[in-house]
Amino acid sequence: MKDDDRTGGILILDFGSQYTQLIARRVREFEVYSEIMPWNAPIARMRSARPKGVILSGGPRSATGPDAPAIDQEIFHWGVPILGICYGMQLIAHTMGGVVQKGRLGEYGRTTVSFTNSGLKLLKNVPSKVDVWMSHWDEVRELPAGAVRFGESETGGCAAFSIENERITGLQFHPEVESTEYGREMLSAFVFDICGCDANWKLGDWVERSLEKIKETIGERDRVVCGLSGGVDSTVAAVLVSKVAGDRLDCVFVDHGFMRKDEPAQVLDMYEKLNLRVHHVEASERFLSAIGGVATPERKRKIIGELFVRVFEEQANDMGGAKWLLQGTIYPDVIESGHVGGDVIKSHHNVGGLPEDMKMGLLEPLRELFKDEVRKIGPLLDIPEEFLKRHPFPGPGLAVRCLGDLTRERLDILREADSIFIREIKDAGLYDSIWQAFCVLLPVRSVGVAGDVRTYGETVVLRAVASLDAMTAESVRLPWDLVDRVAKRICGEAPLVGRVAMDVTGKPPATIEWE
Ligand code: XMP
Repeated sequence: MKDDDRTGGILILDFGSQYTQLIARRVREFEVYSEIMPWNAPIARMRSARPKGVILSGGPRSATGPDAPAIDQEIFHWGVPILGICYGMQLIAHTMGGVVQKGRLGEYGRTTVSFTNSGLKLLKNVPSKVDVWMSHWDEVRELPAGAVRFGESETGGCAAFSIENERITGLQFHPEVESTEYGREMLSAFVFDICGCDANWKLGDWVERSLEKIKETIGERDRVVCGLSGGVDSTVAAVLVSKVAGDRLDCVFVDHGFMRKDEPAQVLDMYEKLNLRVHHVEASERFLSAIGGVATPERKRKIIGELFVRVFEEQANDMGGAKWLLQGTIYPDVIESGHVGGDVIKSHHNVGGLPEDMKMGLLEPLRELFKDEVRKIGPLLDIPEEFLKRHPFPGPGLAVRCLGDLTRERLDILREADSIFIREIKDAGLYDSIWQAFCVLLPVRSVGVAGDVRTYGETVVLRAVASLDAMTAESVRLPWDLVDRVAKRICGEAPLVGRVAMDVTGKPPATIEWE
């Protein structure tokens, strides 16, 4: 994408919210260019984006606290519309002379907001009462001079205000999350009706821009080594970079021994078809002994992540020294590893496990994308649809699905159970409509009876979830005869399994993976 095409979009300033990327994603869904910058990026860099509008994200801090992330006042003088969401709203109020204080109650989750001015552009397709998603403790007690309140929450708090006829707007709730009714309509009104953006940005442009950035980063001579996991993200990242790096790209497929049944052979076959140069490293023994008796999820993830990088480094040295390590990190990995200022939910292996003394630079071209966006990019790079539709699989693989003793025998049990479950789901024609389905092996044994003999077997849990972007998920209501058949087959065919249970928890409160 040329520099000029990039102007006219929305600049999103990130104050550390879990939802910042969702804002960008919504704007991109409208085919409008959007760019996220940290709140403290140099003002010259923000200016050079020449945005048609600015959105200030939410964030975990208090706008009035010491060292609170602030906004450069120059932005108010650009004359472009500004939308502050949650922390962003409080920051506008505080910066412009209003009063922000800790509320008595705080509002978390779904609540109803009533709008008092239906004539606003922002509300042109929005009814006067909507359910919205709130997540805040502080509230705007006094508006800045010239601000008009147009929304009130159930507790009577200020839920929305505008200044200078909607040039500056503050929303206490999150229009970017699915749980906010008419959130898309409000954002669309901001982007098109208030900022006057054009819908002219396509994922193809993202690919082009990304290729340019990769070219700038690796220059004419740098070699790149890529950690291929067999999943969609690292494969798309590798094919993308191969377009620039050509034979300067070496891929390393580390078989850590935590893959699904027959998976190593299948993915190697696929990589050959994609013309990627792949070095296959069989390292299962090394990984198993490194994990040893460690059962704590975070420790496991860190150990696997670190060993992964070490194995890459060894390979890179063998291959004459690569300067860059390419990884298929996507945005949910970044958010949940706490790398944008939020809380650490779990250290995703491509992010949290990296050792501080790593010798190679990191190349993460998909870092700002969601999974479904990565999947849409695949066909633009001629990656077969069938491969792109595979369910997501975590970097640490079955290691985070095999709870308790991590031994070859237990991993084999899990592999067998998982392959039965997935086969049945595919045969029922349900695979493509499910975000992710898999089995988990619990560190729990239970008593059973088989052929008049007492058994004391392993427990397998079935998990199938529906999701749009892995940020939230719901359990899938599988047909009961399918569940029944799977349970019988697993107990009959997977060695030592005596019980099959089903996980019906959503995210939140659970995460998709068990560890
Ligand atoms: P959770 O369990 O956090 O997972 O709800 C969200 C999505 O991310 C996948 N996942 C990972 N992907 N490296 C990855 O590339 C990891 O370490 C990792 N851990 C979880 C998970 O399968 C789900 O799709």
